[in-house]
Amino acid sequence: MRLHTSPASPFGRKVAVVLHETGLWPRVERRDASLSPIAPDTAVCAANPLGKIPCLELDDGSALYDSRVICEYLDGLHAGPKLFPAEAPARFEALRLQALADGILDAAVGVRYETFLRPEPLRWPDWIAAQKLKVTRALDRLEQECEGFAGRIDIGTLAIACALGYLDFRFADDRWRDGRPRLAGWEAKIAQRPSLAATRPS
Ligand code: BEZ
Repeated sequence: MRLHTSPASPFGRKVAVVLHETGLWPRVERRDASLSPIAPDTAVCAANPLGKIPCLELDDGSALYDSRVICEYLDGLHAGPKLFPAEAPARFEALRLQALADGILDAAVGVRYETFLRPEPLRWPDWIAAQKLKVTRALDRLEQECEGFAGRIDIGTLAIACALGYLDFRFADDRWRDGRPRLAGWEAKIAQRPSLAATRPS
């Protein structure tokens, strides 16, 4: 299998974390793509017409995307503890949490593109503020919920850890830990997990 990804991509990081957790890295060739929303990578586009990473090329020539699909596929390839619970309600709780994490990232990555890539005269401050508000509301909800995360390792909690890691990476000045001591405490513990420690963006 061949994984198209990028060291800075938080969605690519989520797939890397799952590869660590499941012990599947030895079966995957990693390819770091050089791309941006306006400069797609030819090899990625050949595998995924959307031109987005992460994208996993399988040995039969087919390709899987996006990160949610790739992570669930990988979870089906190993015999260890499953990251996607099989049964409701645990399954839907893990999927909901993954959706919340990915939603935080959609908003945060959008702000990153808007503030870093888009030419300054074309920027839309109200849109940036609305995206940041989505992140703030999600973090406030996680502060309420995270006591239930203790000891839980599944695709939902790992995705949240990746989302918080991206905020540290690109939005450190926003200080997401301020006023959220429970979430900060939970994150400090889960970040020590080898899969997360080995994939921290720098
Ligand atoms: C970033 O550099 O922040 C980034 C890179 C790839 C995908 C998303 C974000």
